[in-house]
Amino acid sequence: MTREAAGAPVRVVQITDTHLFRDPRAALLKLNTQYSFEKVVELMAAKEANIDLILATGDIAQDASVEAYLRFGDAMQSFQAPFYWIPGNHDRRRVMENLDQYQDAFTNLVSLSNWQVIMLDSSVVGEVHGHLSERELIHLEQSLQAAQSNPQIEHCLVCLHHNPVPGSAQWMEGIGLHNDKAFLAIIDRFEFVRAVVYGHIHQELDFTRNDVRFFCTPSTCIQFKPEVTEFSLDDVSPAYRWLNLFEDGRIESEIERVTGYEFEVDHTSKGY
Ligand SMILES: [Fe+2]
Repeated sequence: MTREAAGAPVRVVQITDTHLFRDPRAALLKLNTQYSFEKVVELMAAKEANIDLILATGDIAQDASVEAYLRFGDAMQSFQAPFYWIPGNHDRRRVMENLDQYQDAFTNLVSLSNWQVIMLDSSVVGEVHGHLSERELIHLEQSLQAAQSNPQIEHCLVCLHHNPVPGSAQWMEGIGLHNDKAFLAIIDRFEFVRAVVYGHIHQELDFTRNDVRFFCTPSTCIQFKPEVTEFSLDDVSPAYRWLNLFEDGRIESEIERVTGYEFEVDHTSKGY
């Protein structure tokens, strides 16, 4: 029996902001990012029996090193599911694109069942904030137009690295997607967009805006405290997110946090 016939949803896993370094022993604000990444991957392996798709939503590497991308890709290979990645502010698109082993990972459109996943590159070289170039906005709009006239596609999920709505912490002002209005204006025109998925602000968010679910997913390393004025780290553990995408457009989603390990971070830091 096919998955559709069985009524089973598409199972998507989102993993984000791994911030891996060339040196696997390196730390970000005292946290060894390779170690915390491995703990999240172990949790995924324990909890996820049948993943259909893995979305890696940026800041894969802290230092844009080939070694970091290869270690990430190699870890994803242990799952029997395709993974696709998009760059974050710490990544370099050119480095990711040129990896022979993971040429397939740089895909900006994926169809699964009656869902389409649109992947956007919001990174701006040398900047923390995000911006969708004309090319990315056209990709978004044309993909949605094509999906609208494709009887096979009924629902869309859009993902990008940067937050397209402001974060709740005051210090986050200015680091999100700068042309958020242009992005949201396109999303608003297509009622079959069901969800927007992102990372960047290292925290869990799940809210609805104009009938579209917005999901932000915690990092696999350090966590940013919401609703504060100055930069501060949260003590909650690293996590990943799963999403069940149903044929009728419904979405179920939760985050899964690592338990049973201490993740020490530098609480005196003023930024990252
Ligand atoms: Fe990040």
